[in-house]
Amino acid sequence: MVANSKQGGLAGITAGQTSIATVGKEGKGLNYRGYSIFDLAEYATFEETAYLLIYGQLPNASELEQYKLKLQGLRDLPSDLKNILERLPSTTHPMDVLRTGCSALGALEPENEIHTQTDIADRLMASFGSMLLYWYHYTNSGTRIELKSSADSIAGHFLELLHGHQASELHERVMDVSLTLYAEHEFNASTFAARTTASTMSDIYSAITTGIGTLRGPLHGGANEAAMELIARFQDPDEAEDGLLSMLASKQLVMGFGHRVYSISDPRSDIIKAWSRKLSEEAGDMKLYHISERIETLMWREKKLFPNLDFYSASAYHLLGIPTAMFTPIFVISRTSGWSAHIMEQRANNKLIRPSAEYVGNEPMPWLPMAERQ
Ligand code: COA
Repeated sequence: MVANSKQGGLAGITAGQTSIATVGKEGKGLNYRGYSIFDLAEYATFEETAYLLIYGQLPNASELEQYKLKLQGLRDLPSDLKNILERLPSTTHPMDVLRTGCSALGALEPENEIHTQTDIADRLMASFGSMLLYWYHYTNSGTRIELKSSADSIAGHFLELLHGHQASELHERVMDVSLTLYAEHEFNASTFAARTTASTMSDIYSAITTGIGTLRGPLHGGANEAAMELIARFQDPDEAEDGLLSMLASKQLVMGFGHRVYSISDPRSDIIKAWSRKLSEEAGDMKLYHISERIETLMWREKKLFPNLDFYSASAYHLLGIPTAMFTPIFVISRTSGWSAHIMEQRANNKLIRPSAEYVGNEPMPWLPMAERQ
């Protein structure tokens, strides 16, 4: 059977089974292991969410405390990895820093009986922020920062290493919710790619590196950076309206809008939008928020397209003082939980992922000697 060859991109094709999440399923919405994204974003921390995804159930109070301590103990980096990070130019894209850091850690602390798959999942989530910010400060100011912080959460640790001081409660909370929203999304491109790598019985670092490479593009994780570049172009909502109308007239894609699975809305968008509004109010600066809202209204009016998680994440991250090029790397820190859960699920019932292709090339023909070629 040819899988939807007209539309392409495996759209609408069920490519396997999972018990980790549902996306846009009638009556189920978006949930992680049965828990609604609305409840997780409201009541859980990212650490609870990651535990749920990786270990299969919500932690009780003492399990959560132990888990947070474990993650805090995994933040530091081996000096060989710091040396590698110091050699990457300041012009490197932060996604390339994480892709390199993940691969290098896989060489320094390879997966084996001591470094198990769950330990590596936790290690990567806990240390990706350290890798990125160690490289960032070293290459921008020559400072070899301490990778310790007063924060007990991954969200707080990231903001503290970035800014050099403890994050406010509001800022840490918004960052934490955003990590929960980005943690898992069923068979999206990067997760499917990571599962494909895992299906060859490769190691977990290789599978996560695959995920990072796939997430980097603007049709997937890179959309949050592209959305920021878009809204930053305009001075006010009217200018945004004119700009967007001409983009649509020339058939340009508007990053941060549309989705392969959702058709009416992305449930994560309303959650991050509300937090983006709170941050704007706190900062006393509604400019980006109003521009974003005008773009949202226009996109629905003109194209019936709705914002996905990436669109309002852009203004939220900007208001947290995060450089735009770090937006997709934050997605990596979070999605490592979902990728890891999928890699483990793939391994637990493995079958090599190797689909077939419909051949549309030349019919077999006689060999063409060099002298006869044009
Ligand atoms: N801006 C403008 N037009 C868009 C659009 C967008 N963001 N998203 C979809 N469309 C249009 C397409 O051009 C196409 O129009 P056509 O039928 O006239 O050719 C139609 O809507 C269907 O889109 P299609 O590309 O077939 O949908 P898809 O399922 O392959 O793509 C995305 C899904 C996410 C890749 C797509 O919506 C997109 O490129 N969005 C921007 C990138 C983004 O935000 N990615 C993050 C996803 S969470």
